[in-house]
Amino acid sequence: MERRPIALLILLALLPFYTWIGGGAAAVPPSPSPKASPAPSPPASNASPRPPSAAQGSTLDPRQLTALQSMGFPTATDPCADPSPHGNATACDDDTPFRHLVSLRLANCSPDLDIPTTALRALSTLRSLAFLRCPIPVPRHLPGPLTASLRSFSCDASLRHLTGVWLSRFQNLTDLSVVGVPVSASGPAVILSQMHHLRSATISATNLSGVVPHHWNALGLVHLNLSSNLLKGRIPSSISVLGLIQTLDLSSNALTGSLPDTIGDLAALKNASFARNSLSGPVPDSISQLSALVHLDLSSNQFNGSIPKFLAEMKGLKLLNLEKNNFQGVFPFNASFLRRFEVFKVGGNNNLCYNHTQLSSSLKLGIAPCDKYGLPVSPPADRSTRADSSDYSDDSSDEGSRDRGSNGGSHHGPSKLVLGVAIGLSCFVFLVIFLVCFSKQLFSLISFTITVAPFSRIKKRFCRS
Ligand SMILES: *[C@@H]1O[C@H](CO)[C@@H](O)[C@H](O)[C@H]1NC(C)=O
Ligand SMILES: *[C@@H]1O[C@H](CO)[C@@H](O)[C@H](O)[C@H]1NC(C)=O
Ligand SMILES: *[C@@H]1O[C@H](CO)[C@@H](O)[C@H](O)[C@H]1NC(C)=O
Ligand SMILES: *[C@@H]1O[C@H](CO)[C@@H](O)[C@H](O)[C@H]1NC(C)=O
Ligand SMILES: *[C@@H]1O[C@H](CO)[C@@H](O)[C@H](O)[C@H]1NC(C)=O
Ligand SMILES: *[C@@H]1O[C@H](CO)[C@@H](O)[C@H](O)[C@H]1NC(C)=O
Ligand SMILES: *[C@@H]1O[C@H](CO)[C@@H](O)[C@H](O)[C@H]1NC(C)=O
Ligand SMILES: *[C@@H]1O[C@H](CO)[C@@H](O)[C@H](O)[C@H]1NC(C)=O
Repeated sequence: MERRPIALLILLALLPFYTWIGGGAAAVPPSPSPKASPAPSPPASNASPRPPSAAQGSTLDPRQLTALQSMGFPTATDPCADPSPHGNATACDDDTPFRHLVSLRLANCSPDLDIPTTALRALSTLRSLAFLRCPIPVPRHLPGPLTASLRSFSCDASLRHLTGVWLSRFQNLTDLSVVGVPVSASGPAVILSQMHHLRSATISATNLSGVVPHHWNALGLVHLNLSSNLLKGRIPSSISVLGLIQTLDLSSNALTGSLPDTIGDLAALKNASFARNSLSGPVPDSISQLSALVHLDLSSNQFNGSIPKFLAEMKGLKLLNLEKNNFQGVFPFNASFLRRFEVFKVGGNNNLCYNHTQLSSSLKLGIAPCDKYGLPVSPPADRSTRADSSDYSDDSSDEGSRDRGSNGGSHHGPSKLVLGVAIGLSCFVFLVIFLVCFSKQLFSLISFTITVAPFSRIKKRFCRS
């Protein structure tokens, strides 16, 4: 009985060391906490900078202040004086006696925030409304004055589920952006057809189905981004009515058929992506008329025919991605042409080859050299492996090494380390247990040999402390 305190003491003495090691092992989970702390920190930095200066005599309309409060929006400082770039944000007009909200962004809301209809009614001066990472229920009743006043609506990973009909009520919008929210509608037309003033429309990663609209009322559209949805069917030739369009992103859908010839009428087009669809046929010659084109991405489709020579005359082109298609024949360009590009990809076209007397294999185009008939050289077994390996080096060598890293090295590295730490730790634990047990024996031995008086003194001191 007397010896137990001593064993306990040894354990206690070792405890700090043990928890330090334990802390070291647990140092992986704590990393989210520094990540979580920036979220609370913005309000602190918001609160400090400008509140007093922007008061300018008039303050926010009390009805709107109440509305903000009912939405859980922090109103400790004047909401009109809060130009936070990332989190919640507002902008106000300069009306007297009360200022009014013209812009509101709710960020990182709690998922059970329910915006009261009265609050929305009070916010009908808003011209811009944005939700950022606010996975809250969709406000069912949209007051008419609010839908009429909004010019910009943005919803990024927010509002659990949207319908096309709900979105279509914002008929005066110039800017619409819905990203990463499921949207149910029979097609983009349901949402867009009544928005005559649109200049920028992004409906991306929404699982939106249907077809690319055939009729357009928003003839002033400059940016159209319907990427990463479930759109089917052909790209209608009527898309050419969008004469001001600069950005057209239809990538990552299920579009079929060929690119319409009328694409050449989009004279302002700078940035076009049709990547990751099932488009086929040749690259239309009319593309050569797109003199403003900077980025053209046709990758991961079934485009075929030869690579058009007119691309050499398109001097503004900086990104050209033709990889993973069915292009065939002799690659028509030389090295000085390729040097013009920031990004040029042509790998993954199995019937395409390059003239090795004109282009060096060190360019790593990801395609095979031609034989004398202009066909890819095909050493029976060797070719597929060579095409594969050069594919990867062309795709981007760091992607290849990243793959290799995640499959091999980086997986082995940590697992070896973890194993080492585990073995070390268990050895240490055994050592501690052994020491504790052994120390019992040791002390019993000692207590027999040493006179009783000093031992009891030691024991007393230990028990007191
Ligand atoms: C932003 O506003 C929402 C409610 O509208 C609130 O839940 C959240 O805490 C606010 N975020 C910050 C950083 O103040
Ligand atoms: C668009 O705004 C105008 C005023 O600028 C307004 O008269 C009209 O009702 C609004 N349209 C819709 C559909 O809300
Ligand atoms: C789209 O559908 C896929 C598959 O059903 C799902 O995993 C994904 O989360 C959906 N995306 C959105 C934004 O709801
Ligand atoms: C289209 O929207 C997606 C999602 O927001 C974005 O990642 C992509 O860059 C946009 N495309 C263009 C051309 O801006
Ligand atoms: C084109 O869109 C991509 C994103 O898809 C973007 O990175 C690039 O800057 C855009 N280029 C131009 C010229 O707008
Ligand atoms: C391209 O593919 C289409 C079918 O998608 C086919 O009809 C056409 O003959 C092909 N063209 C060439 C040049 O191979
Ligand atoms: C490369 O091709 C372009 C036209 O595609 C031509 O003008 C240029 O002279 C060629 N350069 C060389 C070095 O062959
Ligand atoms: C490759 O280029 C040479 C001239 O540089 C030419 O004589 C030869 O026919 C070309 N080969 C093919 C397959 O086009």
